[in-house]
Amino acid sequence: MAPSEDLAIVPLAGADAEACLALSDEAGWNQTQDDWRLFIENGRTFGIRDAETRLVATAAALPYEENFGFISMVLVTSARRREGLATRLVDLSIDHLRGQRLVPVLDATPTGETVYAKQGFRSLFSIERWQGRSEGGSAASDIKDDKSSDLTTVVALDAEALGAPRGAILAGFLDRAGSRAFVSPGGTGFALIRAGRKALQLGPIVAGSVAEALKLLGSVLTAARGTVFIDVPVRQRDIGEMLARHGFTRQRSFSRMAYGSTMPFGKPERLFAVAGPEFG
Ligand SMILES: CC(C)(COP(=O)(O)OP(=O)(O)OC[C@H]1O[C@@H](n2cnc3c(N)ncnc32)[C@H](O)[C@@H]1OP(=O)(O)O)[C@@H](O)C(=O)NCCC(=O)NCCS
Repeated sequence: MAPSEDLAIVPLAGADAEACLALSDEAGWNQTQDDWRLFIENGRTFGIRDAETRLVATAAALPYEENFGFISMVLVTSARRREGLATRLVDLSIDHLRGQRLVPVLDATPTGETVYAKQGFRSLFSIERWQGRSEGGSAASDIKDDKSSDLTTVVALDAEALGAPRGAILAGFLDRAGSRAFVSPGGTGFALIRAGRKALQLGPIVAGSVAEALKLLGSVLTAARGTVFIDVPVRQRDIGEMLARHGFTRQRSFSRMAYGSTMPFGKPERLFAVAGPEFG
């Protein structure tokens, strides 16, 4: 086996999406090839190949339009862990985003947190992934389910709550078959749902009040059919309670971390579910 320090870091292209998917599948993650393409096309995705040219490690640096960029998809195949590969990839991703004057931000798994804390990332808040099933149906509601007309509203609300605009990413979600956008009357809040590898991913949910967020969540759960993952900031206890009433259980936790900073971005009180740990 080639020593890890001899393995070069290379930028990945669209043709690598299948090999990337094999790595996220190995970790049991929910990302699809469409997600990998969003990282590759809208940011810089770095990879390391072994001597047999097999992709063994990845990290994606995704610049948002201002304030910060997201680092994600930090994956190392199990046979090559604890050789410093993740550290090298994350260091490069940090440099890439800081070079664009963006603060590197990420959502860390508990194992990832040990890598990132050593590199200077600090925790902003905790997120819990809830998993459950939605049986679908139809309910009378004044919530609009029409993804074609609402991109501008969704992008503006999302940018305010998250603290950074990311129109291309949200447009990418909504372009996919099966994605749906639910928008409150008056355009004051929204919820998205999209297909994942293992389950539907519900989020973001952005709203001006807890009552509005609960109503949006109820509309999506009524409309969706299948296994659902939703990543909820721990502070949004009412969302967790509603999910528990629907039979959802906590599956894992993440920590939102920023490089060298403990200052949250945007309006976290309006963010009731994130887009996923890979997008924030
Ligand atoms: C987390 C992950 C990316 C780490 O990759 P890696 O290449 O093994 O990490 P590194 O070798 O750069 O580790 C750097 C340091 O982080 C810490 N660390 C890494 N993995 C650890 C583990 N399993 N337990 C405790 N500490 C760990 C150690 O301090 C390590 O330094 P050391 O080996 O000198 O003690 C890899 O385990 C992985 O792919 N896990 C599954 C997917 C995942 O959770 N990704 C993170 C998403 S946020």
